[in-house]
Amino acid sequence: MTSLEEQYKKKGYVIIKNVFDGNEIDKIRSYIHKTFDLQNNSNLRMVYGSEIIKDQMLFSFFFRKKILNSLRILFGDDFEYIPDFIIQINSFGQKEKKYKPGWHVDSASEGSAKYFLKKDYKFAKMGIYLQDNSKEYGGGINLTPGGHRIYLKFLPIRIVFFIKKLKDKLNIIFNNHFIKSKSGDIIIFDSRLPHASSLPKIDNQFIVQNKTEINKIDGLGNNSKFVFYCNVCSSKDSPDFMKHSSKRSLKEKSPFFDYSKQKYPDDYDKGFVKFIEDNKIKIAKI
Ligand SMILES: [Fe+2]
Repeated sequence: MTSLEEQYKKKGYVIIKNVFDGNEIDKIRSYIHKTFDLQNNSNLRMVYGSEIIKDQMLFSFFFRKKILNSLRILFGDDFEYIPDFIIQINSFGQKEKKYKPGWHVDSASEGSAKYFLKKDYKFAKMGIYLQDNSKEYGGGINLTPGGHRIYLKFLPIRIVFFIKKLKDKLNIIFNNHFIKSKSGDIIIFDSRLPHASSLPKIDNQFIVQNKTEINKIDGLGNNSKFVFYCNVCSSKDSPDFMKHSSKRSLKEKSPFFDYSKQKYPDDYDKGFVKFIEDNKIKIAKI
């Protein structure tokens, strides 16, 4: 087992350093600024997949050789991308009413699914960070190393997940790690791992725009936060997730779920499909 694979198994995440260099990052940051006219469109918080897959400058970022090679090491040759591509702009997590603002596991909506207990379950979020993570401005994530693990699997399933939730709460308090990622790094983390956006702080105070909503923080200027996200997984673990997303899309009306209504490759832009085929990449199907 390689050390990358070992770290992913043990800690539930890996950082791949320097996937993009400074020039590429500067270029894509100004491209996003220009393309989405952020000057006049300062409320834009998400760019959804339907727009991303039409623009090779944007979508090709997800499929950099170094990323594909890392995914091959972590998930084996047979891995897939979930096409839930998104670009977040100055987005800093969830509402403050929660027990710990912003902290969550990405797998939460899937509930106490049995497939989370599989020994070789491999499903992760991949984030491409276009800025350093800093104490002043945030820009990356905090997470709980090892927090993806599920113990005592022989117990009734409800109890197993009750214990996991309890463990998540303790981890958030006692095992909260600020990840020092740099601009151009990517982080791949297990969907069961508790994490949160690192929040900007000035004079040691969190910047919160209003008390109940910390989703979006403006005014960070050149330190604006841009992150590309999508899910990646071992091919055997995509069908359960895609079924779940498809059901969720019927209840939750958000452009985020468009990907679970569109069939790959039929409903996709030809340029995107050609790129995917040329690079021998697999996209999860419904
Ligand atoms: Fe998340």
